[in-house]
This record gives sequence, C-alpha cells and structure tokens, in this order.
Amino acid sequence: MSLICLADFEAYAKENLPKATWEYYAAGADECYTRDDNLQGFRRIRLRPRMLRDVSVMDTKTTVLGEDISCPIAIAPTAFHCLAWSDGEMSTARAAEALKLLYVASTYATCSVEEISQAAPEGLRWFQLYVYRERKLSERLIRRVEALGFKALVLTVDVPYTGKRRTDIRNNFQLPPHLKVKNFEGVFEGHSGPDNYGVPLNTLDPSVSWKDICWLRSVTNLPIVIKGILTKEDAELAVVYGVQGIIVSNHGGRQLDGELATIDALSEIVEVVQGRIEVYLDGGIRTGSDVLKAIALGAKCVFLGRPIVWGLTYKGEEGVKGILQILTDEFRLSMALSGCRNISEVNRNLIHVAKL
Ligand code: FNR
Repeated sequence: MSLICLADFEAYAKENLPKATWEYYAAGADECYTRDDNLQGFRRIRLRPRMLRDVSVMDTKTTVLGEDISCPIAIAPTAFHCLAWSDGEMSTARAAEALKLLYVASTYATCSVEEISQAAPEGLRWFQLYVYRERKLSERLIRRVEALGFKALVLTVDVPYTGKRRTDIRNNFQLPPHLKVKNFEGVFEGHSGPDNYGVPLNTLDPSVSWKDICWLRSVTNLPIVIKGILTKEDAELAVVYGVQGIIVSNHGGRQLDGELATIDALSEIVEVVQGRIEVYLDGGIRTGSDVLKAIALGAKCVFLGRPIVWGLTYKGEEGVKGILQILTDEFRLSMALSGCRNISEVNRNLIHVAKL
C-alpha cells in the first residue's frame, strides 16, 4: 500500500483504530463546527502565484525562538500516543529528530519526558504545560524538563474546563489500564474520585488568569509560549505580559464550538503583534498549500495535531516520518509553484483578497 497524502493516513487510521480511540482523536466539541471550519478556512483562501522566478534551488529552513528547523512544520502537543502505537511518544520524538523538526510533548503523554528525551537525545523539544491547582505539580514538571534540555514551555490556556466531546461521553472513553499518564506516575496513587482522561477531575485550575503568567515567569527562565490565543486583544496582553510566542489555536475545535477558524484569526493577531514576539498557528493543516497560506499570513511555523497520530497508527516512527516528509515535500512544491525560493519570500502578497 502506498499512502501519498495526509488524507490517506486519516482513512487508514479510521479503518484500523478501535472505534472509541478513533473517535477520541477525531472528536470536536458539541456540533464540531469549529473543528471542521479549521479545514474550510484554508479552502476559502486563494493564492496569487508569481512566475519566472528560477525556483531550481529551494530552501525551506527557518528558526523558532532562535533554533534551526528544516521546515516551518512542527508537532503539536497531543495526548496518549501509546493508544496509536506501542511506544507512542518515543516514536514521535525519533521521527521529529530525524527530520530536524520541533516536537512539543504533551503533559498528557503516555511516555515520560525522560523516556522521550532518551529516545531522541538530539531532537529539538518544547514541553506543553497546564497550570494545576497545586502549583507545585506544574513546578516539578518544569524542573524535570529544564534538566532534560527542553527549550521552551508551551502553556495551554484554552482549557479552564474540558470541552464537551459527545463521542467520548457516549463511549465513556478512558485510558486502558495498561497505559498511564506517565509524567504523573505515582502522583495520584490511591485517588478514587471522578477521572478526566486518566487524571483526577479537579486537577486543572479554572481560576488561572494572566497573573499566572507572572507566576510562571518567576519559576523558570525558559521562554514561554502561550497556546490557545484567538483574538488581537489577548495577543496584545501576551506581549505585555512578556511571553516569547503565541500559538493561534482553538485546540483543534475541541473546546468552544463556534469559535473562529484559526486561519481566520491569524491576520488580526499578526497585525497587532507587529513582530514583537513570534506567532505560530495550529488547526486544520492538511496540505502543503495550507502551510503556505499560514506562513504567507504571518505565522512563523505551523503545528500538526491529529495527522501525527494517524502516522503513528500506520507505522509508528516510520508513519510519523511519512506524514512529515509528505507535508514538507508538498510545502516545498507549493512554494516553488508560487515563485518563492525561501521562507522570507513567502509573504502576504501571495494571498488573494476578494473584492466584495
Ligand atoms: C489535542 N490537543 C492538545 N493540546 C494541548 O495543549 N495538550 C494536549 O494534551 C492536547 N491533546 C490533544 C489530543 C488530541 C487527540 C487532539 C486532536 C488534540 C490540541 C492540539 O495541540 C492542537 O491544538 C490541535 O490538534 C490542532 O489541530 P489539528 O492539527 O488536529 O487539526
């Protein structure tokens, strides 16, 4: 069998994963309007390619927070990779390392941060974090990832509560007993109350606010990236509070249904930020031209969520490499066909603005 585009991997995953696992990965909140609009948003945008620009030599290299990456495509934090492949996040980390791409490991990984680091010692990694009621819990995780050489913290800010995902409720979806949220091993021993995807229900702190950015700043010197910003107002606050980057994200449409597609949110955010910090985007990236559109509208890099677990399902590390290689190749081709030889040539002029 040969899989030639990300949609082929999606079809394979749907066919081969247990139903409840497929539905957990695929889920959006409520009616899934936002999940689906993330993809439609890219389809609404048209490109203005330039011709006769000698695209015989192409360069997709760029940087994130000063670190080199081979292409502006990275791996978003997603939970529970061991549901898709036996050594889960370790395979993900090896694939990212092999392609010289950034991997953001989730707090809700089914391998520990130590295992992930050992699997791919040379890989560039950031760590995704939530603020817990018990701040020491977050702090202990920070100390561990600092010691392991993770280069930044990604604070996810769109989950004061978990969105309502109907399929997970219908399936009573839970981590199977042989898998654990390994970063918390031993922490919740003996807990017997209600559970949220393997972690006690009230562990997340819904009172989290901008002042917690100051708290985070006070406990670490790592760069801080905020994930889950959708408006220029919050983007401006992120700059004021001194973070180094923001990921324009709606959590893959898994939180507030009806909020806007990330590609539609990007422009006003890029405009207000004016290059003071880096702006990234995730949500609905499925083809090389999606990447091109996001970079043209001002994202420094894009992140992939669900496609990574489709790759894992297909063939572990090889499958994730397949996903990343296909998307990188498609992006390079889209660049060439639009007359861009390197990332600095990918700019707003590529975007067709319809006259009303
Ligand atoms: C996520 N996402 C997520 N985000 C986060 O900050 N921490 C996490 O643990 C998870 N877990 C997670 C699990 C699954 C199954 C999905 C689909 C998503 C959100 C993720 O980082 C990202 O924002 C979206 O997945 C991007 O959209 P696409 O690429 O899936 O369309």
